[in-house]
Amino acid sequence: MLIYILSRGATLYSTSRIYRAALKRRHNVRIIDHMECDLLIEDGRFIVVYNNEVLLKPDLVIPRIGSSATVYGTTVVRHFQEMGAPVLNTPSGIFNSRDKFRSLQLLAGQNIPIPATYFSNDLHQAERIVKRKLGYPFILKVLEGTQGLGVHLIKNEIEAYQMFDRFSIANKRVILQEFIEEFKGKDLRIFIVGNKVVAAMMRIASADEFRSNIHRGGSGQRVVLSEEEREIAIRAVKILGLQVAGVDILRSKKGALIIEVNSSPGLEGIEGVTGVEVAEEIIRFIEEKY
Ligand SMILES: Nc1ncnc2c1ncn2[C@@H]1O[C@H](COP(=O)(O)OP(=O)(O)OP(=O)(O)O)[C@@H](O)[C@H]1O
Ligand SMILES: [Mg+2]
Repeated sequence: MLIYILSRGATLYSTSRIYRAALKRRHNVRIIDHMECDLLIEDGRFIVVYNNEVLLKPDLVIPRIGSSATVYGTTVVRHFQEMGAPVLNTPSGIFNSRDKFRSLQLLAGQNIPIPATYFSNDLHQAERIVKRKLGYPFILKVLEGTQGLGVHLIKNEIEAYQMFDRFSIANKRVILQEFIEEFKGKDLRIFIVGNKVVAAMMRIASADEFRSNIHRGGSGQRVVLSEEEREIAIRAVKILGLQVAGVDILRSKKGALIIEVNSSPGLEGIEGVTGVEVAEEIIRFIEEKY
């Protein structure tokens, strides 16, 4: 198969793992930087020009679109799709998962359990939501944060006002969320390929940190998932219209709660912790389906 991996960096761990797994299975695979693609529509034909080369229509596109390139990246994915090439994750799936509130709306709408979450266009309203509903501490998240940056634990009124001011001035939209204290400093990362859980780990935050992201110093360990956790993770990925994704879950008193679905999940942490060759799982899935 002719496979294009859309990625900004050939040296990124996840990109190079998927690339080498595809090569090993004798696929014709290329890494294409989506930000260097020029898109043409001419006489109803969709053309992608990459460094002066007109790209052939691939048999499959694997998007690895980072959060800083969501808009142009998904536009490139859509261009390939309109060209007639199948894509592993669709532009709308990537879009749905990238916006934390939109993804929670879609999930809760299909009865997937999530933490209580509030969104207001007006941060003065947010103050009222805190007073009436959330209390302290609560979680504040930038709508399109990643790697734990933009996720804050707000402990009192002074901190809340400081944060609201900061985000108002920066014109950044934020969501407010109930703090799941009982699972403090931990979360589950479940890696889904197709309709299957291929690997899972528990991430544990470093001391003095409530965010368990590996990029924030967290460490991973193997974990046994409950039936409920497997089931909601698989359903969540399907609801958002994705095929390959990382689902983040908190174990709360009320049961498993999904906080996020990631459409370009990293491979390094999960392969290291579980020993599962996730990249090979992705290529095997592609061979079966396409
Ligand atoms: N409601 C919550 N209660 C307790 N802890 C939370 C809550 N929401 C997030 N956290 C902690 O903060 C971490 C980061 O939050 P989240 O996954 O929402 O954003 P992100 O990691 O920045 O986004 P991405 O996974 O796309 O990089 C989580 O992994 C979890 O450890
Ligand atoms: Mg996360």
